[in-house]
Amino acid sequence: MSQFWKPGTERPRSSLVDDEEGGVLFYSTPPPSSSYGYANLEKQRQRLPVFKYRTAILYLVEYHSTVIIVGETGSGKTTQIPQYLKEAGWAEGGRLIACTQPRRLAVQSVASRVAEEMGVKIGEEVGYTIRFEDKTVQGVTKIKFLTDGVLLREMMDDPLLTKYSVIMVDEAHERSISTDMLLGLLKKIQRRRPELRLIISSATIEAESMSNFFRTRKKNGHATDDNGLKMEPSILSVEGKGYPVEIHYVQEPVSDYLQSAVDTVLLIHEKEAVGDVLVFLTGQEEIDAAVQILVEKASDKTSHFSGLLVLPLYSGLSRSDQDLIFSQTPKGKRKVVISTNIAETSLTLEGVVFVVDSGFSKQRFYNPISDIENLVVAPISKASAKQRAGRAGRVRSGKCFRLYTEDYFVKEMPAEGIPEMQRSNLVSSVIQLKALGIDNILGFDWLASPPPESMIRALEVLYSLGILDEDAKLTTPSGFQVAEIPLDPMVSKMIIAADTLGCSEEILTIAAVLSVQSIWVSVRGKHKGLDEVKLRFAAAEGDHVTHLNVYKGFLQSGKSSQWCYKNYINYHAMKKVVDTREQLCRLVRRLGIVLKSCQGDTQTIRKAILAGFFSHASQLEEYSQNGMYKTVRNSQEVYIHPSSVLFRVNPKWVVYHSLVSTDKHYMHNVIAIDPSWLIEAAPHFYQLKRPNPAIF
Ligand code: CDP
Ligand code: MG
Repeated sequence: MSQFWKPGTERPRSSLVDDEEGGVLFYSTPPPSSSYGYANLEKQRQRLPVFKYRTAILYLVEYHSTVIIVGETGSGKTTQIPQYLKEAGWAEGGRLIACTQPRRLAVQSVASRVAEEMGVKIGEEVGYTIRFEDKTVQGVTKIKFLTDGVLLREMMDDPLLTKYSVIMVDEAHERSISTDMLLGLLKKIQRRRPELRLIISSATIEAESMSNFFRTRKKNGHATDDNGLKMEPSILSVEGKGYPVEIHYVQEPVSDYLQSAVDTVLLIHEKEAVGDVLVFLTGQEEIDAAVQILVEKASDKTSHFSGLLVLPLYSGLSRSDQDLIFSQTPKGKRKVVISTNIAETSLTLEGVVFVVDSGFSKQRFYNPISDIENLVVAPISKASAKQRAGRAGRVRSGKCFRLYTEDYFVKEMPAEGIPEMQRSNLVSSVIQLKALGIDNILGFDWLASPPPESMIRALEVLYSLGILDEDAKLTTPSGFQVAEIPLDPMVSKMIIAADTLGCSEEILTIAAVLSVQSIWVSVRGKHKGLDEVKLRFAAAEGDHVTHLNVYKGFLQSGKSSQWCYKNYINYHAMKKVVDTREQLCRLVRRLGIVLKSCQGDTQTIRKAILAGFFSHASQLEEYSQNGMYKTVRNSQEVYIHPSSVLFRVNPKWVVYHSLVSTDKHYMHNVIAIDPSWLIEAAPHFYQLKRPNPAIF
């Protein structure tokens, strides 16, 4: 180990126990809560650092309109504070306590944990809502976990969020777009509803700047309202009881962090004492690849690697896989969880003693000029690296193996990440603010202002889609309808056009498929089997129509998992498609859209797609040998992605769903079109704004 790793400056410690705090120590993973029952869970609750602050928190919430709570990950903020509030009566009289999370998986996971701790069934007293999944019952649910995005949507029906007594905006340090928007809007709501209590909680936060943001004085200059409620936010810091973590760096930069991570796990298993391992990689594909390599190692019963229990952790994981992550490590085994940055602060895994940090995460980046938004693998910040390391000191002193050099950490790693607001496409955010009656978007009370170019670009897109009028107000009815549908406005526009064209049944299926990551199973290396299977479903018109064929096949099979398995189709994703489609059908019916099928007329279907995606048209370069296209909007060089059924087919004109850049700009989900449809779909865009001689 020492050849590979350069120990950090901290004093090496015994890797078993460190009793500096004199607290309760575990030698191995604590037992699973369910097997120990309620009494044991109650004890676990009382052991959490936040428990000592119970009275203080309740006092502050009583007397301050806003409370900012900072506390180390795992101290019990998310799971305990909503329960304290309920115990103190904040959910009485039909009121609700809300706790928002930026991530869907975290919402589901913490909600089921809290339900378990309270000894109730999930979806009743403790419920959750994520997009397309509502597990709450009106009048019964008292504590509701939800994504920040869902709470924003709720404002469209109930602008003052009147059913909530307390709203806890959790994981505020993540600075997701929705969190940032929510904070600005909640501040406005508080002016109208001073009795609404806000808790802003996070692992690491600029508590002062957050406090300044919420500092409001009444016009008469008093710092309290008429009921003696203090308008000044108060800040509470929860002292954690993290154990020391020894940091190790690689001596030379690594060229392949995935391989390096795998090697490090194997080394840990060989050389280190008992304790689970948490590995931070960036995305599902990579994680599945690492899991596969390690599982192969572990399947050799004669080798001591058979002691490894390897599990992936990323959003989109099924419930049973999620449960495995939190269940007790069997005796004699070492659990290795390979995760995205969801385990950085959103979820705490007990029993982790070793952390392997790749130094990367998937981050969204948006370029308003090229209008390309990409999820790219990018270096994390020092703040993230520290959080990741901290995960190793949960039950006793631990070790963190960083797959980058100390020099890199000190000199090159940025101190903080950039808020998502400043590196995203803002189309959806702008339409939501407009729908909430915020007309002056640039003048909105942002925690950090979004880049003006992104704003302008978003306004341009919404204008070209006919969602905003010349005064930048939502159009009636189409703008308001689009705002009601919780999807990318271009997809929503396509759904609305389908109503007029009489193909809403088909388009809703397509929209549902596009809302899941991929309906195909991810296969590593050779894709031959998958490619062959795809041909069975492939439609000459392109991917969207192919999706319709897959959906039809799935229904005809009786939604069979075996059928999916045979056809390289992700059963879990298909079930989600069916659920999402059902939810969408219900939603659009409410908007007055009539469900109608065009009996698979692919021309009509493609025209509906064009109504939303006309600006995503590309034309094949005439003499291109390698399938190069140019986008109509800004003559960008693009290529059909190899996963598309139109890869190598190269129709002259195509429309794509999204662009993803790796070595080149790739068009994902592509259909072939007739260019005359473009003018038909968007005369304002193609004739007036951007005349393109090639079309005429
Ligand atoms: O929000 P914060 O990071 O402060 O802590 P938390 O998420 O409330 O976690 C408190 C405790 O609950 C930790 O010890 C977690 O391991 C545990 N927990 C769990 O066992 N299962 C879950 N699904 C969520 C939390
Ligand atoms: Mg939390």
